[in-house]
Amino acid sequence: MEVRKAAAADVESMQQLIQQFADDGLMLPRTVKSLCEHLQSFTVAVEDGRVVGVAGLHVLWKDLAEIRSLAVDPQVHGQGVGRKVVEHLLHEAEQLGIAQVLSLTYQTGFFEKLNFHVVRKESLPHKVWKDCIYCKKFYHCDEVAMVYYTQHYEAFQAIREA
Ligand SMILES: CC(C)(COP(=O)(O)OP(=O)(O)OC[C@H]1O[C@@H](n2cnc3c(N)ncnc32)[C@H](O)[C@@H]1OP(=O)(O)O)[C@@H](O)C(=O)NCCC(=O)NCCS
Repeated sequence: MEVRKAAAADVESMQQLIQQFADDGLMLPRTVKSLCEHLQSFTVAVEDGRVVGVAGLHVLWKDLAEIRSLAVDPQVHGQGVGRKVVEHLLHEAEQLGIAQVLSLTYQTGFFEKLNFHVVRKESLPHKVWKDCIYCKKFYHCDEVAMVYYTQHYEAFQAIREA
């Protein structure tokens, strides 16, 4: 399996993978247009030429990025695809100098395995919630906020507290 940055030829498969979980209310749907506009932020896992995993790293602020649209083909669940895609994005966040990586999720067990920690939603900046107006659950959001602290976190904290 190869984990790499997404390319234009992957977009249709990415959209279909995300859509099947969006239909079940597990994530927000993404249009082909929106995936094209944010193509550089996406990573895919490819097996035998088929896209089996996808997720994007969306930079929200100098110290904060969010993992969005994480979806793994049900046929390969439990085989480490999700882990590899998220680790790829965490590496990208480290390279970009981002201090915290956020996920709003129902998959707390999965993200705990990847060293994410549950945080209070109230502790997150308002810009995190910008796209929530597109969500059916806007008025009764039950997703859990989880954060991964990169190697840059302590340096950012020190600047903030100085
Ligand atoms: C959540 C999801 C991305 C996990 O992908 P996956 O490829 O099946 O997960 P992995 O095989 O990489 O699992 C990594 C670890 O997390 C564990 N894990 C995976 N899903 C889990 C869950 N729901 N609860 C608890 N642990 C879980 C695995 O057992 C594995 O542990 P290990 O490393 O000790 O063996 C996948 O189930 C999925 O696409 N779900 C539907 C869409 C969704 O909810 N996306 C998240 C939106 S934020």
